[in-house]
Amino acid sequence: MDREPALPSLSRRQLLALLAGGLGFGASVAAANAFTPVASPSPNKLRWLATADSGSGDRKQQAVADQMAAVQRRQPVDLVILAGDNIYNDGDISKVEATFQRPYSALLQAGVPFHAVLGNHDIRTANGDPQVAYRPFGMAGRWYNLRRGPVEFFMLDTNMNANWGQQLPWLRSSLAASKAPWKVVVGHHPIYSAGFYGNDPVAQGRLGPLFKKYGVQLYINGHEHDYERTKMIDGTTYLTLGIGGASLRPILANGNTAACASVHGFVELEASPTTIKINAWDRQGKSIDQTVLVAKG
Ligand SMILES: [Fe+2]
Repeated sequence: MDREPALPSLSRRQLLALLAGGLGFGASVAAANAFTPVASPSPNKLRWLATADSGSGDRKQQAVADQMAAVQRRQPVDLVILAGDNIYNDGDISKVEATFQRPYSALLQAGVPFHAVLGNHDIRTANGDPQVAYRPFGMAGRWYNLRRGPVEFFMLDTNMNANWGQQLPWLRSSLAASKAPWKVVVGHHPIYSAGFYGNDPVAQGRLGPLFKKYGVQLYINGHEHDYERTKMIDGTTYLTLGIGGASLRPILANGNTAACASVHGFVELEASPTTIKINAWDRQGKSIDQTVLVAKG
């Protein structure tokens, strides 16, 4: 009844070319620049999926990945965001088959591009450089931006050893130059959270003023192994998605919390120039949360 449709040969070829070329990709890891689009989605619509703390390689990750593929089959998505801790436990790229290629094979075979950032586990091997160079992770550097349809993504390295001396001026000038209706920043570490690690006052001081000044409407992170959506804080909604496969932690709402859950899953997002619809799903395909962000005036 519910069989996988036969894959078109082009998608297979694209996947094989992608995977074969991956490890030899000679990216300059210090470079931060815009990633060249493979295919441009509509200028007025972007559909994407996001999750984090995914790379466990176990059945929980597979269950989440299966639900992500089900959403893609129902209505195609333009890309997938992985917000770090892409490969447990030590970011070892030799485990990429078990922690990425196999779990997400349906999405990869459908030709959906992935774009990742580095989590704390990812930098344990060669400071994450092999992941930056691994082409299917879609990283143009340790930090990079990506304009797709009505959304511009600003993908950050938020690790302890991140080069903020270079990254922060780059973020400031990139946000200032952006003409996108929606500015979405992605980093592994939380800025506002009611979870195990809680709020990060240093990150709030470093990034909060930029988000406010340049109108960043959404920040996506992992690291906290729970699902959280905050109320809007100075115009920004903070979405914690450390639910892609790693062991969960309990979550207790605080004054900033709009929704929270301790379940595995992912979010489906759909942007128009004036709205972003957010649907969060668990690993059984049940709805966790839904809301709509509306652009200001
Ligand atoms: Fe983490």
